[in-house]
Amino acid sequence: MTRTIYILNGPNLNLLGKREPEIYGHETLDDVAAACAAIGAEAGLEVRLLQSNWEGQIVDWIHEAREKAAGIIINPAALTHTSVAVLDALNTFEGPVIEVHISQVHKREPFRHHSYVSKRADAVMAGFGVQGYALAMRHMGAILG
Ligand code: DQA
Repeated sequence: MTRTIYILNGPNLNLLGKREPEIYGHETLDDVAAACAAIGAEAGLEVRLLQSNWEGQIVDWIHEAREKAAGIIINPAALTHTSVAVLDALNTFEGPVIEVHISQVHKREPFRHHSYVSKRADAVMAGFGVQGYALAMRHMGAILG
């Protein structure tokens, strides 16, 4: 059985650390990858962190995860609020799915309050900053044993 966790990131998250740091902080996606890899190592889980600005690429990675991942942690970014395609792809995945938002989306604009992905996610993190990814990884370790 695979012990890999896919950590998928949607549009604009390549600019994490530079983009609106007052909302998203100063840490980069590389920092997130390093922190999650360290937590994964403790639990015997490998991490594959990916980011794309393209919806279809995220869908393709979710399909790939069907064969190659034990769980998915996903920050769909703006696709959270728009993408039935990402939801449908996640519905084809059988393992645990954790949705992560760096910011507390429910405190922000009303268009950020609805998530298509939450219809599938087994757990949702919002407002923990980039630490949300680390907390999600710890949870993956706990549930995957
Ligand atoms: C986000 C919240 C989304 O509303 C936004 O479009 C993002 C990032 C977050 O991590 O807080 O790009 O998913």
